[in-house]
Amino acid sequence: MIIGVFDPEQEKPVEFSIKRQGPAEHSGCFVVGIFESRKLADGHGFGEATRRFLQEILATGDMDGKAGTTLLLRNVPSLPGERLLLVGLGKEKEFREKEYGAAVRTAIKALRDTGASDATIHLTRIAVKKRSAAWRIRQAAAVASETLYRFDQFKSKKEDKRRLTRLAFSIDDKIKDAQAAQALAQGRAIGEGIALARTLGNLPGNVCTPAYLADSAQKIAEEHLLECQILERGEMEALGMHSLLSVAKGSHLPPKLIIVHYRGGKADEKPVVLVGKGITFDTGGISLKPGEGMDEMKFDMCGAASVLGTLKAVALLQLPINLTVIVPSVENMPGGAASKPGDIVTSLSGQTIEILNTDAEGRLILCDALTFAERFHPQTVVDVATLTGACVIALGNVATGLFANDDALAAELLEAGATAGDRAWQLPLWDDYQEQLKSNFADMANIGGRPAGSVTAACFLSRFAKKFSWAHLDIAGTAWKSGAEKGATGRPVSLLVHFLLERTGKLH
Ligand code: BES
Ligand code: MN
Ligand code: ZN
Repeated sequence: MIIGVFDPEQEKPVEFSIKRQGPAEHSGCFVVGIFESRKLADGHGFGEATRRFLQEILATGDMDGKAGTTLLLRNVPSLPGERLLLVGLGKEKEFREKEYGAAVRTAIKALRDTGASDATIHLTRIAVKKRSAAWRIRQAAAVASETLYRFDQFKSKKEDKRRLTRLAFSIDDKIKDAQAAQALAQGRAIGEGIALARTLGNLPGNVCTPAYLADSAQKIAEEHLLECQILERGEMEALGMHSLLSVAKGSHLPPKLIIVHYRGGKADEKPVVLVGKGITFDTGGISLKPGEGMDEMKFDMCGAASVLGTLKAVALLQLPINLTVIVPSVENMPGGAASKPGDIVTSLSGQTIEILNTDAEGRLILCDALTFAERFHPQTVVDVATLTGACVIALGNVATGLFANDDALAAELLEAGATAGDRAWQLPLWDDYQEQLKSNFADMANIGGRPAGSVTAACFLSRFAKKFSWAHLDIAGTAWKSGAEKGATGRPVSLLVHFLLERTGKLH
């Protein structure tokens, strides 16, 4: 049974559009911003009667412009629509990227609770320091679709069907039609990529298995006419991927190596290769994890989900680039046949590994996937993985950990993250840390002790990435949220798509 992303019963996404003129055309709800304290943001384009009415509302103190607040008005004079939603923007001087995104999020949440089926958002007209109009549109569309995302396929009673069906973003004359349309398409594609990544992440381990991930990749490939290949256990054995296979030994589920090629660039252009950790459940294996919160280890395939989400966005946008996605997917279980601490395996690269801890399994599957990537002669390889608890300790849930053997690549990824509002922070990959991986019995151990756990994990991977320009994103702290809002975030899809947009000269 396949449920999830491809459930035909799933609701249609909200339709997005661009509106150039002010509020002349009818809309179910107009959305405008109010700065602290009580200042109507520029670019609303309202007529005299509406403006006077608004001034009065603001003067009487019903909306003071504090960030996060909203006020819904009806029967507004001379407004060609039923409703006007005021959204607090906070202090004008402090209105930057983060505040802009938050205002759009607040607006969408409020819109969801109105009876409006369509709305026109004027927040896209408000200047954001250092950011273009295209950035505002792209970001608004991405944030809107993120905010409207729901995952309720396992709830027997669904919430009300969504009423909102159309969202227009209002823009001024400073941006050309073609650029605005492109930015909107990019934002929507990012939103769809994020939604796919979140759904794959949120699916439970008994549904989202290695075979399910392989099926999902195949469906994306079919939809976009891409080449997809799934390597089975026997083929991986023949290749010599014994490190990857050692992780699969404890599980009844067969491992899969998923490869998808998107070819939008010139035939002779080297591909960017994205590798995503696809552990569909991480019990720790024989080095069993403690029970508390172990359910969250269903998210251990979020790296895989994010590279598939990125692939989907790239395919939707038909970017002029060659992109190859590789997902090693395995379930990490204890069992009679499982790997044991002290076992030694030979990786695809020929290097031998002493498995001192079976819970450090991510690097064991990734190392073989990295070696495998060599055959595609990549211009760049980026791997994405929920790799270390230590990364959560170092950077919390704010920044993704970034490691690279190429400083120019690191700079590109940092910049992409900043632009996307999906930030990463670079940590060192100095040789000094390599000695922690020393083994008395094999070429290396798979753990480097507690100090700098994220760095030694990256150092381990770097030994398999010597032949190309490579970066590693540790998303252990950013791929999902715990607590009341438990769920996958879809990070770092936005960072990765921005990185590829910039490489193809499509980021304005
Ligand atoms: N998937 C985990 C990393 C993880 C843990 C991510 C908690 C998010 C939250 C990974 O496979 C793992 O277990 N890593 C170990 C490595 C250790 C044994 C060297 C860890 O971080 O404890
Ligand atoms: Mn683990
Ligand atoms: Zn893991």
